[in-house]
Amino acid sequence: MYNIEPDKLSSADKEKLFMETLKGYLDKDLKLVTNLSNMSAVIHAFFPDLNWVGFYLLDNQNLYLGPFQGKPACTSIQIGKGVCGTCAKTRQAQLVSDTSKFSGHIVCDIASKSELVVPIVHNSLLVGVLDLDSSELDHFQKSDLELFGKAVNLLVDIL
Ligand code: SME
Repeated sequence: MYNIEPDKLSSADKEKLFMETLKGYLDKDLKLVTNLSNMSAVIHAFFPDLNWVGFYLLDNQNLYLGPFQGKPACTSIQIGKGVCGTCAKTRQAQLVSDTSKFSGHIVCDIASKSELVVPIVHNSLLVGVLDLDSSELDHFQKSDLELFGKAVNLLVDIL
């Protein structure tokens, strides 16, 4: 894990190794916070160009900050607010090429220029969201949405 040099791998090899590594760390016998902590660390190790990677988890009508890698972030987001809250409300992934053009975007880190948020739904119940931020405009593509959707599915499988 600690010797990974993702930039030396082809994109297909990197994605394969990412998924295998993630699967190796996720464990149904561990607490949610433990799995999410390692998942954010694995994503960050494979995608070091992302400036923030982490989770917001549902509690009543709010999302609260979960395990993450990056700068300290907003601790609470209302359902329906910002990119994360919109994802939680709609249960639809949000691919935002330019955060400044997303109405209601919550600025936790001014460096974040584009964002991908994926809902985590288990047994029809929303658990929270995976939030990925980039300091580049238009960083995330449909292929990222597919990849991180699959990563979230691995997580959901062990809940
Ligand atoms: N920008 C997000 C808030 C979370 S931070 O990016 C970590 C949003 O609008 O939901």
